[in-house]
Amino acid sequence: MSATPTNVMDPTARFLAACRRQPVDRPPVWIMRQAGRYMPTYRALRERASFLEICQRPALSCEATMMPIDQLGLDAAILFSDILVPLIPLGLDVQFDEGGPQIRPPVRTAADVARLEHIDLEAALGQVDYVFEAVALIKKTLAGRVPLLGFSGAPWTLATYAVEGSVGRNKHALRRMAYDAPDALHALLGRLADLVAGFLARQIAAGAQAVQIFDTWGGLLSVVDWQVFSAPYTRRVVEAIKPLGVPIIHYALDASHLVSAIAELPCDVLSVDHRESLATIRARTGGRFALQGNVEQGVLTASPAAIARAVEACLADYGAEPGHIVNLGHGITPDATVEAAQCFVRTAQAAGARLWQEGQARGAAQ
Ligand code: CP3
Repeated sequence: MSATPTNVMDPTARFLAACRRQPVDRPPVWIMRQAGRYMPTYRALRERASFLEICQRPALSCEATMMPIDQLGLDAAILFSDILVPLIPLGLDVQFDEGGPQIRPPVRTAADVARLEHIDLEAALGQVDYVFEAVALIKKTLAGRVPLLGFSGAPWTLATYAVEGSVGRNKHALRRMAYDAPDALHALLGRLADLVAGFLARQIAAGAQAVQIFDTWGGLLSVVDWQVFSAPYTRRVVEAIKPLGVPIIHYALDASHLVSAIAELPCDVLSVDHRESLATIRARTGGRFALQGNVEQGVLTASPAAIARAVEACLADYGAEPGHIVNLGHGITPDATVEAAQCFVRTAQAAGARLWQEGQARGAAQ
């Protein structure tokens, strides 16, 4: 049996082609939260610096970003930072405690939002210049090995944290604001949309070759409410950065019910969790988007055989058509292992190349 060549294309060309649903040698693979506590080297870095310090010091952010690239052989790098960082220029105090992030003071009333109205967002983004410096440093360090992704939270998901002040379980502060003070919530979302657009534009200017917008909490909403509270603001972001020409990936968690609505956004790639089959999503969106995902992240705590089966099933689900980026359905968890992540990446690369060659051979025989 001949060895399967898994690296025919340049990694950047492969990733960008997959985003644009153009033919590739195999689907690229990366992992959400690919640098994190499941890695001994990341835990060692956390002995030296807090999570926020890593985000705020470009050399450390770069070091963390490179860890999974060096250890796993991934096909894309993602800036090491957090979706909550852009809340800092709004004058909010963001801390990462044992129990998850804490944002103070929470933004809940019209008066709270009015305080944000006076902020010059362009100037305020200067407070997080370390993010753009990290992008530039990582880009230089990567030296073209793999493409670099930037990211931001979607306005709705950032509002969730700004209003809740933490990752509350039932999110009633947020829901109450939507019911009792919708104008204030809309004003907050408008500010966040302008902030996120500027934040992503600067990452792109610094060298990000694609961007992912995380609407992690979009799935909390009904279709009607998502259209009211999330879609218009993410649309504003996407339309602002679209002319910059890099692929835009939209991620939502637990959002199968939103797929048709999300498909009205002018983005390039839909990143989806494990709950719905990729074939079904592709059919429901008329094949107009590349799809990223969607192996259930818990499999990375299971055996290599189970990981290989899950990856093969994901590849078969999408099929040998252009426009698949292999990823998990949500971030890798701290109880996964580096060996499991390696197995995920290697299987995706080898099985992906095989699938493509078989697909081409079938095409040639027809
Ligand atoms: O994907 C990547 O590798 C890039 C880095 C990245 C992180 N968070 C690092 C991180 C990205 C893209 C995120 C996104 C993020 N952050 C989201 C959206 C996607 C998702 O996973 O749902 C959200 C909702 C957050 C907010 C956040 N940050 C939470 C709820 C937590 C606590 C939970 C946890 O895993 O600790 C964080 C902290 C965080 N962000 C860590 C990392 C590596 C752990 C920090 C540590 O070292 O203690």
